[in-house]
Amino acid sequence: MNERPLVLLLSGPNLQLLGEREPEIYGRERLDDHVAAAASAAAGLGLTLEHVQSDSEAELVAAIHEARGRCAAIVVNPGAFTHYAWAIHDALAAFAGPIVELHLSNPQRRESWRHTSVVAPVATATIAGLGGAGYRLAIEAVTVLLEGDAVSR
Ligand code: DQA
Repeated sequence: MNERPLVLLLSGPNLQLLGEREPEIYGRERLDDHVAAAASAAAGLGLTLEHVQSDSEAELVAAIHEARGRCAAIVVNPGAFTHYAWAIHDALAAFAGPIVELHLSNPQRRESWRHTSVVAPVATATIAGLGGAGYRLAIEAVTVLLEGDAVSR
């Protein structure tokens, strides 16, 4: 039986193209590389990672619902859904544990339409602009949040 707390990593649309897609912005590593880095960080911290990637908002919402009462935390890179997917906002709002919003790039430094995140108001913390290192850092952030050492408001 798996006694280790589960962390759900969610990847939104187009992230399966990482490595090929705009590498000057998102880097040359593939999604599998980022998931492996997150899984390895999680294992080292006594957590088990699950990963779901989907281009479908409905599938991401369903994965968030299925995490309720089962997963200890969620790390989510919603891709472009970040900027307009209120159903993902609402689903995350119904999740009880810590939520880390993660971006490879720093959307605040990019086009103005990326400056709004509808996920940010329900995220406990945000990591952005650190490229692939963000995946490991997001898992470390989860442990800080689960230990209750973080500032909360
Ligand atoms: C992204 C930033 C989003 O604006 C964009 O639509 C993505 C990736 C990132 O990881 O930097 O698909 O979430």
